Amino acid sequence: MIRAEKLSKRFGDVEALSPTDIHIRAGAITAIMGGSGSGKTTLLRLLAGLEKPTSGHIWYGDEDLCSISDERLYTLRESMGMLFQYSALLNSLNVYDNVAFPLHEHTDLAESVISTMVAMKLEQVGLRGFEHLMPSELSGGMAKRVAFARAIAMDPKIVFFDEPTSGLDPISAGVISTLIHDTSTKNRMTSIVVTHDVKAGLSIADHVILLWQGRIIAEGDPDAIRHSDDERVQQFLEGRPDGPIPFSRSTTSYIDDLTHKPGTVRLES
Ligand SMILES: Nc1ncnc2c1ncn2[C@@H]1O[C@H](COP(=O)(O)OP(=O)(O)O)[C@@H](O)[C@H]1O
Ligand SMILES: [Mg+2]
Repeated sequence: MIRAEKLSKRFGDVEALSPTDIHIRAGAITAIMGGSGSGKTTLLRLLAGLEKPTSGHIWYGDEDLCSISDERLYTLRESMGMLFQYSALLNSLNVYDNVAFPLHEHTDLAESVISTMVAMKLEQVGLRGFEHLMPSELSGGMAKRVAFARAIAMDPKIVFFDEPTSGLDPISAGVISTLIHDTSTKNRMTSIVVTHDVKAGLSIADHVILLWQGRIIAEGDPDAIRHSDDERVQQFLEGRPDGPIPFSRSTTSYIDDLTHKPGTVRLES
């Protein structure tokens, strides 16, 4: 349903994403995994149309996200939900108004209809009855669940998640993973989940894309990833500090930095 061709993104000297081909299956959960700085968020933002690529195309059916009008992009984005790492809840709004927010923004539905829809979403995340709480009164796990309810408020076909379990205790992280899995399955939603959480990623995904330095180093179902004989994949899965994935990602020479010579850029290939 979403196809990316030779998609790349460069920020100055940093190639955040090297030309990459990707196929996202409709109705499935795709996990984009990899260490910090490997290009996961960049890829997610490109796929969601929040960022323009340096090169390449992103096909939603037969429409290229990179060349459609802003108006069309806006309409398309109404069928997408987002749960981003730092896109916190709106602090001045209570739980009800946070979840109702996209419905107020994008629809002309009567408040009675909106309130039914909000109740259904809050029931789904186990937080019905908490409508009047303010974000400051919620635990981290509850706040993520409210953000999840908000992300699916418009019954999106595609939902993008950036590190949905980060900063949560293991139980709350498990609750969010289960919610993503069950909601995606029940609603036949296409979910794209960026995570460095190996356990969460492998447990819920149908398809895993593993990134390293802006490149795909492994792709397949969770079992194929678990059994990959690529040393870098195994290092990532086991969280080992030593291995082919270097601890240091500096792009300038250490000696040059210490002697204040102008940086000679030394990009690893
Ligand atoms: N807006 C930006 N400006 C400059 N560099 C960026 C920007 N966004 C990401 N990068 C760089 O691109 C690389 C990949 O970043 P990112 O996609 O956020 O990785 P991840 O989500 O896997 O941690 C990093 O080196 C990061 O510093
Ligand atoms: Mg990120």
